[in-house]
Amino acid sequence: MNPFLMSGYERPEFFCDRENETKRIIQSIENSRNLTLISERRMGKTSLLKHLMFLQQDEATFIYIDIYPTLSMSDFIRILSNAVLNHLEPFSEKVIRKLTNFFSAFKPKFSIDPHSGSPNLELSIGTTSEKEKSLSLLFEYIRDSEKKLVVIFDEFQQVTKYPEKNVEALLRSEIQKDINTSFIFSGSQTGILLSMFNSYSRPFYNSTETLYLDAIQKAEYSAFIVNKFAANNIKIVPETASYLYELNRGITYNVQYLCHKLFADGNDLITRESAEDKLTEILQENEVVYYNYRELLTSFQFQLLQAIAHQGIVEKPYGSAFIQAYSLGSTSSVRTAINSLLEKGFLIQQKGVYLSDWYFSLWLQRQL
Ligand SMILES: Nc1ncnc2c1ncn2[C@@H]1O[C@H](COP(=O)(O)OP(=O)(O)OP(=O)(O)O)[C@@H](O)[C@H]1O
Ligand SMILES: [Mg+2]
Repeated sequence: MNPFLMSGYERPEFFCDRENETKRIIQSIENSRNLTLISERRMGKTSLLKHLMFLQQDEATFIYIDIYPTLSMSDFIRILSNAVLNHLEPFSEKVIRKLTNFFSAFKPKFSIDPHSGSPNLELSIGTTSEKEKSLSLLFEYIRDSEKKLVVIFDEFQQVTKYPEKNVEALLRSEIQKDINTSFIFSGSQTGILLSMFNSYSRPFYNSTETLYLDAIQKAEYSAFIVNKFAANNIKIVPETASYLYELNRGITYNVQYLCHKLFADGNDLITRESAEDKLTEILQENEVVYYNYRELLTSFQFQLLQAIAHQGIVEKPYGSAFIQAYSLGSTSSVRTAINSLLEKGFLIQQKGVYLSDWYFSLWLQRQL
């Protein structure tokens, strides 16, 4: 098996480091505190949460909910009720009876999902007050559990995109009532999440502690890379492993990607040159995607992305130095384009602006 996973989580053997972060989260759980986990995209938040669930499976019951696909409060309620149904207790006749009684006002209907084979719970909700009431009941149901519970909301920033404006306040008041459960909020749109949790005027102000997930340290990651290759009789010296880390800016997803591809080649020696060649090959493979991106953007937005990629990070994107160097015209058109690119997820704003996809950024640089 390829020891460098490109998606998901398997088991600790394939997971590099994150020991301090794991300890910190466990401490929060043991003390029933709530936590916000943030990082740049693809640094490893979801995997860290899965790792935590794997290690702590005998200590607590986890309800993990990825709310990225949800568009409204009804979606949120549907996904939460199914998570409660599937993770709180084993599905049984007793559970059906309990849930039917508990949610009687919302005519609960049970079915089996034909794709996943897991049980589904549907509540009949229409009006705003029904939504609020059912959400509140769901949390009451969670509070009633005798087990130590950890409820994880991944991609939590998504709630700010719902048309209903009071979701944050509703969730906050429910979460506050629950002193035995730990809630973990995770997401990569750091700007949105930080303002949710750190602005005085927002319901979640000061309600959680924040854990910022940085890149894995170079020394730890390089040792992991050398060991995983060595265990499969592939030789790579520590300096080359460090170089490979640097080529990928330490971004977990990209480091894994390159290592995965190098491993799949089956060569018994990895050198700086072979790592560079592989990276070039990956960029070529992804070209179709990058050309598609171009279709989604105006030519000005694309030109702007190229300029930003060329700089790596642009601290003052509205400054005349940057605008003139790349003949970008007026500040206002740059501003409009940057806002749209941030909104679409192509750019990240943090101590400057830069591209969210490191390989796309590299590819653009090489086009110049
Ligand atoms: N500690 C780790 N050791 C090895 N591989 C990891 C580690 N953490 C994450 N990965 C791998 O890196 C990739 C990205 O991880 P993950 O999806 O957890 O990041 P994320 O921060 O949740 O990303 P997103 O911002 O897209 O939600 C995945 O392929 C995962 O398998
Ligand atoms: Mg994730």
